[in-house]
Amino acid sequence: MRKITKRFGALVANDQVDFTLRRGQIHGLLGENGAGKTTLMRILYGLYHADEGHILVKGRAADIRSPKDAIRLGIGMVTQHFALVLPLTVTENVVLGYTDGFRLSLDNAHQQVYEASKRFGIEVDPKALVKNLSVGQRQRVEILKALYRQAEVLILDEPTAVLVPQEADQLFQSLARLQDDGLSVIFISHKLNEVMSITDQVTVLRGGKVMGAVETRQTTQPDLARMMVGRETFGVTKANNTGRGRVVLQLLDVAAADDKGLSVLKGITLDVHAGEIVGLAGVSGNGQAELAQVLDGTRRCTAGSIKVTEQDVTNVGPAQIMAAGVGRIPEDRHESVVTEMSVAQNMALEHLDEFVQNGVLNHRDIRLHAEKLIAEYQIKASPKDKIRALSGGNMQKVILARVLERDPKVIIVAQPTRGLDVGATEYVRRKLLEQRTKGAAILLISEDLDEIMALSDRIAVIYEGEIVGVLPTVTANAEKLGLLMSGVKD
Ligand SMILES: Nc1ncnc2c1ncn2[C@@H]1O[C@H](COP(=O)(O)OP(=O)(O)OP(=O)(O)O)[C@@H](O)[C@H]1O
Ligand SMILES: [Mg+2]
Repeated sequence: MRKITKRFGALVANDQVDFTLRRGQIHGLLGENGAGKTTLMRILYGLYHADEGHILVKGRAADIRSPKDAIRLGIGMVTQHFALVLPLTVTENVVLGYTDGFRLSLDNAHQQVYEASKRFGIEVDPKALVKNLSVGQRQRVEILKALYRQAEVLILDEPTAVLVPQEADQLFQSLARLQDDGLSVIFISHKLNEVMSITDQVTVLRGGKVMGAVETRQTTQPDLARMMVGRETFGVTKANNTGRGRVVLQLLDVAAADDKGLSVLKGITLDVHAGEIVGLAGVSGNGQAELAQVLDGTRRCTAGSIKVTEQDVTNVGPAQIMAAGVGRIPEDRHESVVTEMSVAQNMALEHLDEFVQNGVLNHRDIRLHAEKLIAEYQIKASPKDKIRALSGGNMQKVILARVLERDPKVIIVAQPTRGLDVGATEYVRRKLLEQRTKGAAILLISEDLDEIMALSDRIAVIYEGEIVGVLPTVTANAEKLGLLMSGVKD
């Protein structure tokens, strides 16, 4: 890609970007939230059109106007929000749209997909329905789909953000094998250790410009961080917990059922004190999501009770639980914002009543309120921007601002830094620690053990809907937690 420039109105998302990918190379693409990584890749895949610059494929000028053109040139892309058809099988998804002119024989197709999955070393069951697959498995289907279309270049936009560590390892093994066969991969990630361990070369973007393209062997994590954000030190340090107060959030024998009516929380008893962060560790799918829903009033408890400072809030519903002082930062950012609405509207969303005068919304107040939060949280956006145009980190800051400005007594936060760059991660973690100092009781649900260890005062481990252990962070280590997370009790 040569001298690529892409503007969105006044914003220059890519500024004279040069990007070179060689055959058989795994090439890391790094940069802060909003640096322009996804934009550049969307241009390569034909989803956006560059305002300036050109693309060469195997030395020849390529006019890529749509993903169809990209696919014809051997370029495939796996985005974070998969484009799979849920009620269909793996085979149907893989061959879908690739069989023009042929009558599709299913048996034949299953066999072909099976063979492709063997050849590429990507394990999936061709006959499985996509809706029954885990996130990691769905990602494999997307990759297989690209390879089946004879991709020679595979673009992976933050593939590991949705994977648990074991799944990420599997992905890396597949990539290494594909690389041996001559596949080239563009790998976007915010996790510098991943980039260091699997890439051959790294290109770093900052503010839409290339800051450098370096051989991975010849660089270090601090160097990459410095190129990305212009400074080196990262990580927040947690002060000792001196101010743990009374119990604020109290769960007693809480039980709940999942969407199929199966028991998914089996007698959860847990206290969170004022000024304390309790980390909830566990492998995804062990009841964490349902516990968060029970705590924000969107799922019913079938037994047990929940109290917030002595007030019984069991099954009272979302509005009342929020009124009792519970703030929620949910796992799926996109779910808690209205993507078609503006930043300002989203910031006012949960307490619109405060912006009503004589029965009508006061838009000026809504905008002023947004301007204040944007300044305070250093959000790169203006009040009237549509939420969907924000980068992941900025969207997370909007949600954080909306929840934290109310100084909730209890904060339920799930995967708060997933997909965020190092700077934004540090920012979010610092904000949570600030709330702890202010006396909030925080329940931190995360699959990232490093995050849990860095922020929590105590760590509770959930396994198959039960708390199988609670330990002070000072006595915890990855091995102990790992055992508990796989259901091994003392
Ligand atoms: N469709 C769009 N309309 C307007 N602005 C956009 C659009 N897409 C991206 N932008 C803006 O372009 C800039 C670059 O965004 P991009 O998504 O490429 O960043 P990124 O490096 O992928 O960030 P992240 O790490 O958060 O995914 C951001 O400021 C973003 O708000
Ligand atoms: Mg992106």
